[in-house]
Amino acid sequence: MHILAEIALVREQIKQYKRDGRTVAFVPTMGNLHEGHITLVKKAREHADVVVVSIFVNPMQFERADDLTNYPRTLEDDIAKLTAEGVEVVFTPTPEVMYPQGLDKQCFVEVPGLSSMLEGASRPGHFRGVATIVTKLFNIVQPDYACFGEKDFQQLAVIRQMTTDLALDIEIVGVPTVREMDGLAMSSRNGLLTIDERQRAPVVARTMRWVSSAIRGGRNDYDSLIEDASDQLRAAGLQPDEIFIRDARNLQNVTADSTQTVILMSAFLGQARLIDNQVVELVTESKEENSVETQASESE
Ligand code: PAF
Repeated sequence: MHILAEIALVREQIKQYKRDGRTVAFVPTMGNLHEGHITLVKKAREHADVVVVSIFVNPMQFERADDLTNYPRTLEDDIAKLTAEGVEVVFTPTPEVMYPQGLDKQCFVEVPGLSSMLEGASRPGHFRGVATIVTKLFNIVQPDYACFGEKDFQQLAVIRQMTTDLALDIEIVGVPTVREMDGLAMSSRNGLLTIDERQRAPVVARTMRWVSSAIRGGRNDYDSLIEDASDQLRAAGLQPDEIFIRDARNLQNVTADSTQTVILMSAFLGQARLIDNQVVELVTESKEENSVETQASESE
């Protein structure tokens, strides 16, 4: 495995792979790797001959200095996990390598609309930071495929839009959320939970499943569903942050034309901000009519 911290060395290595006719799949991470990341790496392996992983805690996407400082950094462990997966290249740049002029003079990439709504509204600059670093990493690694977790639903939507808008020749692969046995979505931030908080944390996934089955059962009074969900989180000692129920295709409000909704949920528990999401298929009237017609013709 090549562990490289300089852009020129990564470029040289990738050129060599491409000269040999090998395809490249890329998994960008901020380190502190868990099963969720390893699933991304395995998915990358299914798509291409060579797997490249980056480990870089990107200062541009943090709004709070303390959050950036406290972000867990576990490089040695991460390298051991990636070695076990047979990853070919790990890119571990410093902030000086990625932002040689500092953040203020860095040109940026921003996806309008998607970056400023929902989580982007409460974390101004966050998705700009993500889109900018992912573009830079894409330009360095030049992958054929790039894998991202569906857990960060809005991030994945931003990256897909950015890839389309900038005509990048990269296939974006969304990978389903990996969960602990009790339903908690895996996240580097789970490590910030105390033992007691860890026991309460699965309430986020449970509440989301409850909202999801209410929607499938026909409820569309989304504001009161969100209120009920917030109450459930509060009752378990969590502080609800944001809960949205939106059209899964564009993250806009659900309309009569929506066929899928997504529930996006975040809540604070101690030091951790837990996030999760679930897509729910909507049974539209036309679908219902079709299924009634099909049943009728089957019984004829
Ligand atoms: O999801 C993450 O870990 C980060 O936002 C990413 C995509 C590696 C960009 O820094």
